[in-house]
Amino acid sequence: MSSKFPDHFLWGGAVAANQVEGAYQTDGKGLSTSDFQPQGIFGAITPRVDGDSGIKDVAIDFYHRYPQDIALFAEMGFKCLRISIAWTRIFPQGDEEAPNEAGLAFYDRLFDEMARYGIQPLVTLSHYEMPYGLVKQYGGWGNRKTIGFFEHYARTVFERYKHKVQHWLTFNEINMSLHAPFTGVGLAEDSSKSEIYQAIHHQLVASARAVKACHEIVPGGKIGNMLLGGILYPLSCKPEDVLETQRQNRDWLFFGDVQARGGYPAYMRRYFRENGIQVEITAEDQQALRETIDFISFSYYMSGCVTTDEAQNNTARTNILNMVPNPHLASSEWGWQIDPVGLRYLLNVLYDRYQKPLFIVENGLGAKDRVEADGSINDDYRINYLNDHLVQVAEAIDDGVEVMGYTSWGPIDLVSASKAEMSKRYGFIYVDRDDAGNGSLERRRKKSFYWYRDVIQSNGNSLKNKA
Ligand code: BG6
Repeated sequence: MSSKFPDHFLWGGAVAANQVEGAYQTDGKGLSTSDFQPQGIFGAITPRVDGDSGIKDVAIDFYHRYPQDIALFAEMGFKCLRISIAWTRIFPQGDEEAPNEAGLAFYDRLFDEMARYGIQPLVTLSHYEMPYGLVKQYGGWGNRKTIGFFEHYARTVFERYKHKVQHWLTFNEINMSLHAPFTGVGLAEDSSKSEIYQAIHHQLVASARAVKACHEIVPGGKIGNMLLGGILYPLSCKPEDVLETQRQNRDWLFFGDVQARGGYPAYMRRYFRENGIQVEITAEDQQALRETIDFISFSYYMSGCVTTDEAQNNTARTNILNMVPNPHLASSEWGWQIDPVGLRYLLNVLYDRYQKPLFIVENGLGAKDRVEADGSINDDYRINYLNDHLVQVAEAIDDGVEVMGYTSWGPIDLVSASKAEMSKRYGFIYVDRDDAGNGSLERRRKKSFYWYRDVIQSNGNSLKNKA
């Protein structure tokens, strides 16, 4: 297949601080909400006691081993690496005036290491974590004051890294708060819809303020949002199913609409009104929201279906979003339905809607890997998954969609977000660690490592269009 990818396409991978770094109390880091969720993003909040240890406390020890890992990414030819900054390394409690210098210095070292190999950073300000201090003292994003704390944090890191980081993202999968309120906005799982949407509103205002700050501080900097791209299809062509699908897609597109268009869409005002949802939106908030993002970023793992048929609705729900399964698709070991064509469709939907450049910042297959007696790991299932998705990205580019780059999720094995386990592996690089935390943490190249290296080297020419 001849390459449809532009010359400066940002090929790479994506990780998040709480899933790779470990060192959860090192160099003055404070405890984050993630440190209270040893069972993952849907897990109950578990109090920390001295001497306890969750899998994320060490994770894959990226905090200490990053030079080796960056060298391996460079060997694959990465142009870009998406990381997140742990807010609690910079502001351990969240409400301090002065930042923690040791935390800032860590990311300086990390960015310098990436620069040695010409790998551009793409940095998420908040990936499924916030300082636990802000939850305890202020009620998380339920409190308007958190907007100010976040803006202070964002301005601090923009100032510090403005000559090292050009591409930024505000909140990871910002729409996930509807499904995991503690993870997304630091609220109790049984919070009311009004409380959740108020917290989301504060986060949207904070996101817009960060966009403004980035534009003011980072010369030539670009900042995007980050959506969980959970595209839904109608299970049938019954008009009611189609309409309900549109309604449910708007549950998550709403976030993009506010961030890319600069205000609340009319359909949300109706939704709030008809569901008794009260959200305080001040004139100042409305003004702040007008500062819109430069590009749209999103994760894509699967699609799902919608039906108004109650009987079908109650059966066989699948994956983290409880989507109705699609009879035409196969599923991963974790019930996530595999739909490469859906990625082309989603890219077109988002580009038609926003006409802004798109960045696929997560995509990948979580699977169990087997290390053979000779030490090799033959992950053809992962190669097939990624190949088929990238072929569809090429098609979307040919459709005219502007795609800035592709960072596959978990280029090195890491702790899974939903299940907090190591055995759900995404990497091109294997990490010797099991779900109980046993293992040497040694790194090992999988078959997919060489495959991805060839894809990058050929700028997508080596992909196989099997259709
Ligand atoms: C996304 C998150 O939802 O999916 C990542 O942004 C996460 O943090 C990824 O790891 C895959 O999910 P999981 O549960 O398989 O780790």
